[in-house]
Amino acid sequence: MTTTNNSASSYPYLFQPVVLSETLALPNSVVMAPLTRCFAGPGLVPTEQMADYYAKRAGAGLIVSEATIISPEAQGYPNTPGIYTPEQIAGWKMVTDKVHAHGGRMFNQLWHLGRVAHSHYTGSQPLAPSAIGWHGRVPRSPGLEYEQPRAMSTDEVRHMVERYAQAAKNAMQAGFDGVEIHGANGYLIDQFLRQQTNQRDDEYGGSLENRARFALEVVDAVTAAVGADRVGIRLSPNAHVHLEHTPGDEETFAWLLHELGSRDMAYVHEGAFDDHIEYDYLGGRPSAFLRQHYPGHVIACGSLTPEEANRMIQAGQSDLVAIGRPFIANPDLMDKLRTGETPEPFDPEMLKTLV
Ligand SMILES: Cc1cc2nc3c(=O)[nH]c(=O)nc-3n(C[C@H](O)[C@H](O)[C@H](O)COP(=O)(O)O)c2cc1C
Repeated sequence: MTTTNNSASSYPYLFQPVVLSETLALPNSVVMAPLTRCFAGPGLVPTEQMADYYAKRAGAGLIVSEATIISPEAQGYPNTPGIYTPEQIAGWKMVTDKVHAHGGRMFNQLWHLGRVAHSHYTGSQPLAPSAIGWHGRVPRSPGLEYEQPRAMSTDEVRHMVERYAQAAKNAMQAGFDGVEIHGANGYLIDQFLRQQTNQRDDEYGGSLENRARFALEVVDAVTAAVGADRVGIRLSPNAHVHLEHTPGDEETFAWLLHELGSRDMAYVHEGAFDDHIEYDYLGGRPSAFLRQHYPGHVIACGSLTPEEANRMIQAGQSDLVAIGRPFIANPDLMDKLRTGETPEPFDPEMLKTLV
């Protein structure tokens, strides 16, 4: 999976090249994690400023774009970019061209928020596996509370699978090197996987195989559209945001990961904010759970320091590591990792500007 270390860096394992698939070789093992920034322009079109922001970080082995909505009713935060109009595709092409010109590689993260989308942005009631709402205030959206969603019909679920596939084709047209299906963080795909949010009685609910069906159909439709070698998926076997764990959900994830193992995808990516947390129901850290159940490339993520990330790859606990907030704080993070210079700490104030 990884080749030998050929760098004199302070963190040599971070600088190991990785052959992700037949078509994708990465010069190092560091992934820029997807980071929603809310700076898209009118029509949710990516801007030149976004192109500059990503191009500065092109030294990462792979950039995963901020989550990108696949259709108008998928939206739940302001100014999140889309990948469903010709203008959005053209905007992303400007971004990927610039990233490629700076020597980088970039995947587009495909996103539908499901029940945590909001009519304030979409003009329609949120869609969900079942009519079961989440509670509390919508982040980055002053004054908004989560709404009661509407359960999707079986036909709507099947149609949604096609939307992911179309979004993946659009992403390839926009020059991305591949796509990451956002199955993490309590959004639509995660909502299908969980007993609490999926109480359907058709073929998409009831048993763990049925709860995993939507995720697998999306994976199969997207890989049929763009090739399995260009597809990754992000999953949160730990329920850490927008929903709660129900005992037994971990069996759905184990089964899903086993099924994904036969599909020759580029990778499975941990969706977590803190990989140090050990969950009883996962038998330890989320990264270890992914490693245990998925035979292909695993990307660990979640508050990992460069030392820890380096050690995890060295110990074979992960093939790659994704780093999020430090990339916001340090456009030149890869240079700092190479020289051993201490990165600037992240400060939430930094989210106000895109530099
Ligand atoms: C501002 C911000 C925006 C984020 N946006 C996304 C996103 O669009 N998609 C996603 O899967 N995760 C998102 N995350 C989670 C990160 O990808 C990552 O899992 C998390 O920040 C932990 O990694 P870190 O400790 O290296 O930052 C976001 C996190 C932050 C702080």
